[in-house]
Amino acid sequence: MKTVIEPFRIKVVEPIKMTTKEERAHYLKEADYNPFRLRAEDVMIDLLTDSGTSAMSAAQWAGIMRGDESYAGARSYYVFRDAVADLFGHKHIIPAHQGRAAERLLGMAVLGDQHVVPGNTHFDTTRANIERAGSEARDLPIPEAVDLGAQHPFKGNIDLARLEDCLRELGAERVPFVLITVTNNSGGGQPVSMENLRGARALCQQAGVPLLLDAARFAENSWFIKQREEGYADKTPREIAQEMFALADGALMSMKKDAFGNIGGLITLNSDAWAQAVRNLLILTEGFPSYGGLAGRDLEALAIGLEEILHEDYLAYRIASTAYVGRHLAWAGIPLLQPIGGHAVYLDGRRFCDHIPDEAFPGWSLSTALYEHAGIRACEIGNVMFGREEADGTWRWPDMDLVRLAIPRRVYTQSHMDYVVEAVTEVYEQRKSIRGMRFTYRADALAHFTARMAPLPASSTVSSS
Ligand code: F0G
Repeated sequence: MKTVIEPFRIKVVEPIKMTTKEERAHYLKEADYNPFRLRAEDVMIDLLTDSGTSAMSAAQWAGIMRGDESYAGARSYYVFRDAVADLFGHKHIIPAHQGRAAERLLGMAVLGDQHVVPGNTHFDTTRANIERAGSEARDLPIPEAVDLGAQHPFKGNIDLARLEDCLRELGAERVPFVLITVTNNSGGGQPVSMENLRGARALCQQAGVPLLLDAARFAENSWFIKQREEGYADKTPREIAQEMFALADGALMSMKKDAFGNIGGLITLNSDAWAQAVRNLLILTEGFPSYGGLAGRDLEALAIGLEEILHEDYLAYRIASTAYVGRHLAWAGIPLLQPIGGHAVYLDGRRFCDHIPDEAFPGWSLSTALYEHAGIRACEIGNVMFGREEADGTWRWPDMDLVRLAIPRRVYTQSHMDYVVEAVTEVYEQRKSIRGMRFTYRADALAHFTARMAPLPASSTVSSS
């Protein structure tokens, strides 16, 4: 059989509120044309993020009932610790309430103002936490990563030649660790190969610098390695994940992705000194080291999620269903980032809305049009998120102005995805009617979350170029 079916059936449902285009135009205006400001109940298909939005399994809900809420040394902590230890293999296992808490704790514990943290592409909260500690977050993606159409099986790889130069130039005094994100979210949900990780490991070892993984989507990365890298077809996703983690000295993880958690995070470390420093800071702001800002019930659900995420049937369905959306959109001629990533499809805002110049935010304008047309909420990862005003008042735009359709895990069915394909195709057919946007309020940092926008008059949208 060719048809890939969802390897689960539905036991509990949440109704979707159906809305009309007129209603959505009103909600959008009320939200100042910022999808983050919409009420979630006014969204029909929510593709804003795959983070914390997973459907939990019956087994996870059963685990929640078993949660031990003791302040210290809860049984649920040991269940969690054992599940993590088997997979990650690192000496110290420290829960945190989500990924960015883990980033902040490690950053505060080990980073200083002369430090540089190289990576493939740091996620925005990771970058912000590194910078907050006074250090530099340095992205070293391979050149293909910023070429939207370039086909590369492991487009998330770190550029080993540039990493080698960086380590040679700065040495272990200036580089406290290297952080590789699997899969590379900011680079389009693209995987990192085992060969690349092995190469990075060798360079780090030579320089005496620890290698850490940002493991938010480690299971999806393992599946890509199984499918695409020679020598891995017969290995299980768990064996591949264990091999990835064995190459690293520790990991940070947002467990809101590949652990099917609605909340949760993790730090694993081999270094006793770093673990001690992190635990001491954790007590200050997150709670006791055996719960790290989570409830005992969360720890139970995460332990089960870490096991379920590696099921081959699930991963085969997961990657195939994201590819399905991408393939159908590509067939309809819609410009998007290739190859299709693990957790999301990324539309190319600039080519989709080629009548809208950068300063009128093509990707953002597209995301609002998609909501108004079909009630689909997507996330711009482009000019609004990363655009910077220079000292002389000119604007610098990022390499790519993308609109991410992130697919929550085990939440939507194939007909929901068919609806998404149809909606994006219809918006593409009417793309010349999409109007550009301008800011009416812009915060200094992480502007996209709180931005207020307004559509430009139709006549001023058209690019002069
Ligand atoms: N690292 C990566 C690769 C991420 O994608 C995220 C979150 C984080 C760290 C931070 O984790 O949200 O638990 O604090 N990504 C979400 C997204 C928000 O929509 O891509 P967090």
